[in-house]
Amino acid sequence: MSEIHLQIDGKEVVASEGMTILEAAKTVGISIPTLCHSEKLEPYGGCRICTVEVEVRGWPKLVAGCIYPVEKDLVVRTKSEKVNKIRKVLIEEMLAHAPDAEVLKELATEYGADKDRFEKHPSFCIHCGLCVRYCAEIKKKNAVGFVDRGSNREISFIPEIAAKECWDCKECFPLCPTSALQAAYVLAESLMTPPESASGCGCSCSSGKKG
Ligand code: FES
Repeated sequence: MSEIHLQIDGKEVVASEGMTILEAAKTVGISIPTLCHSEKLEPYGGCRICTVEVEVRGWPKLVAGCIYPVEKDLVVRTKSEKVNKIRKVLIEEMLAHAPDAEVLKELATEYGADKDRFEKHPSFCIHCGLCVRYCAEIKKKNAVGFVDRGSNREISFIPEIAAKECWDCKECFPLCPTSALQAAYVLAESLMTPPESASGCGCSCSSGKKG
């Protein structure tokens, strides 16, 4: 794999072909915020919080660091007035959906975001898609998916699949940057019937007792 020389925040970086800006930055200790990225999953580029400024042949543009591949002589700025402004607005928009999410509150403090700038639509889902993609890509079950559109978009478990697959899994829970996933699961739980193999009593009383 060939080496690519580029500059990130003034540092000379030697990356491998195929790396993203996010990965190259990490090799020199530069951290870029992410919300929808996971090393276990295919690059997605959904939340845009990883936006950075790049200069290609003298032309500046804004790109998502988690999906943009390194290029020879690329100049990258992971912090700049423009970048910070974009991240601030994105955080404000996400806070309208998940006002209590710790990760957003921390980012809001860092970027001086106004927690009340946008009208609240507290679905608690910030549409990062981590749970949906994990279930599809890693577990190959598709037990959780997106429903609705626009600002009403949120995640939902599909009870018929979740009843069979989720009781003993729940591997997507730790990926959720807000409390949306657990809340959606609790809602769907009432529609699920535990599989016969589970340690319940076999009826729908959820007593947890055998027999
Ligand atoms: Fe890059 Fe979400 S972390 S778009």
